[in-house]
Amino acid sequence: MIPYKHEPFMDYSKEENRKKLEEGLATVKDYLGQDYPLIIGGERITTEDKKESYNPADKAETIGYMYQANQEHAQKAMDTALETFESWRKYSFEFRSDVLFKAAAIVRRRKYEFTALLIKEAGKPWKEADADVAEAIDFLEYYGRNHLKIKDGEHVESRPGEYNQFNYIPLGVGLVISPWNFAFAIMAGTTAAALVTGNTVLLKPSSRTPIVAYKFIEVLEEAGMPEGVVNFIPGSSKDIGDYLVEHKDTRFVSFTGSRDVGTKIYEKAGVVQKGQTHLKRVIAEMGGKDTIVVDSGVDLEEAAEAIVYSAFGFSGQKCSACSRVVALEDIHDELLEKVVAKTKDLKVGNPEADVNVGPVIDDASLEKISKYIEIGKKEGQLEIGGKTENETGHFVHPTVFSNLKHDAVIMQEEIFGPVVGFTKAKDFDQAIEYANATDYGLTGAVFTTDRHHIEQAREDFHVGNLYFNRGCTAAIVGYQPFGGFKMSGTDSKAGGPDYLTLHMQGKTTSEML
Ligand code: NAD
Ligand code: ALA
Repeated sequence: MIPYKHEPFMDYSKEENRKKLEEGLATVKDYLGQDYPLIIGGERITTEDKKESYNPADKAETIGYMYQANQEHAQKAMDTALETFESWRKYSFEFRSDVLFKAAAIVRRRKYEFTALLIKEAGKPWKEADADVAEAIDFLEYYGRNHLKIKDGEHVESRPGEYNQFNYIPLGVGLVISPWNFAFAIMAGTTAAALVTGNTVLLKPSSRTPIVAYKFIEVLEEAGMPEGVVNFIPGSSKDIGDYLVEHKDTRFVSFTGSRDVGTKIYEKAGVVQKGQTHLKRVIAEMGGKDTIVVDSGVDLEEAAEAIVYSAFGFSGQKCSACSRVVALEDIHDELLEKVVAKTKDLKVGNPEADVNVGPVIDDASLEKISKYIEIGKKEGQLEIGGKTENETGHFVHPTVFSNLKHDAVIMQEEIFGPVVGFTKAKDFDQAIEYANATDYGLTGAVFTTDRHHIEQAREDFHVGNLYFNRGCTAAIVGYQPFGGFKMSGTDSKAGGPDYLTLHMQGKTTSEML
């Protein structure tokens, strides 16, 4: 087998690639506005209720209408998943991995179409949409290979006359709940990990980005996934979310999303229901409040570049986005000046044109970010941005605040928009103390040339993904396993070597010879 290597990113300065993306946009344009059914056991099901998915950069453009599942559909999906589990769990490891490899090949062939769909449905700039598709391909390729590695279990010792084995077996029916911000990669990665390990899946995608999820299920079907392995049930969280989290037959929940929702799911899943014969496992990957620390004596151009990209890439709508900068006193002002200058150069607009910053996802998000901008104006000094536009699409201009205390509200709460705050530290010890002083622990970065400071941060900066002399976003599957500490989640490390076994249970067998 070809060893795993991450999917290369597209170079859109090349005319031929720009042309292919335009073709992708034309393909997507041809299917805009269609209706999309639920998929349960392979059956396409339409319901009483359908919800629009629209382009956040151009509210008048409908991507499609998604039929919504109710509790009856959720129960039908559960029954189907329970029944299918009995056969799917016995398929060979090779067959299940092959579904992922074939799916990766199909997505790669349709790369420009998927990139275009993310530009339209999630409002991603080209570079971000391309990275989302590449990451989806990476998850499929990486988990497919990792699954084959655990085929024979782990070696355990045997005494004379005894044959001991330790193998991983699937758990059962998993509920996968995915966010809109990595509408393809996280949805596909969490679904693929659950299914390849022999579980059956109920996929409830984000109601903001259901069409790309529907298209992925079609890809899995084309790749040979048997009917009923993944059941696609978009629907209201209130109607079917709680119902399935609390369902006695749900064996595990794989959730990626906000801290509020994640902690509630964690709590609800912990209650043992009447008739339940297992304890549910919960993977919950949640929010971030990610800090870049900038030490004295570093290349401030480079640090400023990394801050601007980490803070404003995809309008700051990444759990990994930089929303706090802690700079040493002596370089603070120069760094801030450079960040403001680079922010001024960013082009904001509809990502169908090649811009740096696209829209935020919806009205609620724009409103929430605006509220934080007002708080920021009271807590610190607005250096640039602070403007919003909500006519054709939901736009927030990249915003920088300075003169903030490290424990100010906008330095503590996840804003999930293009807003970054600066604070000063008197020395490196204080910088690390400030960096750690949030409830979250997802990503962080340190710019320093001091070897002692690198080692100090390695030991004391308490985040799941710590980067040195680079930005704090853009983890690569299989290279930088991704997941957070503290209230950022269960540190499940997506794209890491032990991710798959979280979806399995270890079985010991001991045979007397
Ligand atoms: P969200 O919590 O609002 O929604 C996430 C998913 O949960 C959606 O599919 C939603 O429909 C569903 N949901 C909501 N209420 C539910 C309920 N009661 N029962 C079942 N499902 C329910 O988050 P979002 O706005 O989609 O995504 C943004 C958030 O996700 C941010 O906080 C971001 O930091 C976080 N995120 C974290 C990671 C990570 O790996 N740590 C990655 C991406 C996004
Ligand atoms: N995995 C994504 C990143 O690292 C969220 O930015």
